[in-house]
Order: sequence, then C-alpha cells, then structure tokens
Amino acid sequence: MIYAVIAAGGIGSRMGNQDKPKQYLHINHKPIIAHTVEKFFVNSAFQKIIILCPNQWVNYTKEKLAKYLPPSDKFVVIKGGDTRNETIMNAIRYIEETDGLDDDTVIVTHDAVRPFVSVRIINENIDGAIKYGATDTVVPATDTIVESIDKETISAIPDRSRLYQGQTPQAFKAKLLKDLYESLTAEEKDILTDACKIFTMKGHPVHLIQGEVHNIKITYPYDLRVAKVLLDEEAGGKD
Ligand code: CTP
Repeated sequence: MIYAVIAAGGIGSRMGNQDKPKQYLHINHKPIIAHTVEKFFVNSAFQKIIILCPNQWVNYTKEKLAKYLPPSDKFVVIKGGDTRNETIMNAIRYIEETDGLDDDTVIVTHDAVRPFVSVRIINENIDGAIKYGATDTVVPATDTIVESIDKETISAIPDRSRLYQGQTPQAFKAKLLKDLYESLTAEEKDILTDACKIFTMKGHPVHLIQGEVHNIKITYPYDLRVAKVLLDEEAGGKD
C-alpha cells in the first residue's frame, strides 16, 4: 500500500504571532493545508492520506478538510509528535496498528506547508521509494553556503556544485525507516533534523528526486505573499 503522510504537527513559530499554526492560514480563501492535501487526494496511487497535526487541532483539521475537500474515507487525521521525525513515526505506528506494515508499504511524507508540489515530483518519489527504499526531493543550491562553527568567522565554504537544498516529499519504505529509526541511540535521535538523515547515518543510500524552485515551504510572512502570487498563476489567474 502507498500512503501520503502530511506533516502538519508544527506550530509555525517563525510565522510570528498568528492565532493559529501557519498550515491553517488562508491563501486565496482556502487553508494552506487544504491546498496541499488536495495534491495528494487527486492522485489515485494513494490508498490513504494520513494528516498529522497538533493534538488540540485534530478536530479543527477534520472540519477544514470536510469544508474544503470532497468527502472521502481516504482521510485520516491523527496527532503528530514533538519533532517532525516523531510525527512521521506516529504515522508509521498508525499504519502498523490499522493495516499492518510489510516490506512493500511506502509512505510519501510531505510538509503541509508546501502546497505547490507537482504531480511529477509526487510520482517520482513513489517510484523512487519502491525502487531504492528512500528518496529526497532537492534543488541545486543557488547561494554559496558558508559554514561558521563559532557564528563569528567562516570555518568552511563547501563546494557549491555538490550542495543541494532539501525540499519534500521524502518517500520511504515504511518498515525500513522504522527499523533504522529504532536502531538509533537516544543521542543519535536527538541530533536528527531530517528523516533522510536516518538512512544516511545508517549507510543506506537515499535517491535524489529533482525538485522545483516553486515548491516553496511557507515559513515566514513573506512566503505567504509569494504563495498568493504562485496560486494565482496556478489557477491561470493574474500574470
Ligand atoms: N512538523 C510536524 N511535526 C513537528 C514539527 C513540524 O509535522 N513536530 C511539520 C510542520 O507542520 C511543517 C513541516 O513539518 O508542515 C515543516 O516544518 P517547519 O516549516 O519547521 O514548521 P514549524 O515547525 O511549524 O515552523 P517553525 O519552525 O517556524 O515553528
């Protein structure tokens, strides 16, 4: 089975003082999370779409999906975890408890706040996870990346031709991800910032999928303004 896992467990602190987490803010009269879920809903590859959000927002999320998307028994809304990786692990636990996990169970994990993901990116992540076990969506780094250990002086300037910026989706064979995650020590889990790092720490290759510049993550208020322009373009509206 192939599952979409929509990570909406964050509170969007960098968005500033909003009355709700950023995934529920509206762009063009619809919550960001509804725009994102729609991209997965229209793809028949997914048997279920698991949406994970903060516990106190579970009912609100269900209401918004019912209001802005067609009725469907594919939607499952459950609580996320304290970290993004724990949110993904909650999805895997849910799958294990309801349908069971096997070697062919694939999850396509995606940020709820990346509503511009394309059909191609989603499909290539599914194919890549089936073939390689793990995928990451990336774009080549455009700015020079400067490393500073002491936050005052440069410690290194890595060769930009080897650097990429990570986007989502990231897709995985779910049982493999769970087994690798459970084999980590508590200290290793602490330094994990990214689900793909679980694979790289354990020496398992992660296949790269070419991302797109407009597959933006809505993080700051500025991104909301950009998102509105992109949505207008997507709808064939304003130039
Ligand atoms: N996320 C999640 N579970 C968490 C933390 C984050 O599912 N415990 C999700 C967010 O909801 C978001 C995605 O991961 O869709 C990318 O994370 P980010 O942009 O950092 O979201 P927030 O953590 O909400 O933002 P901030 O860091 O500004 O608080």
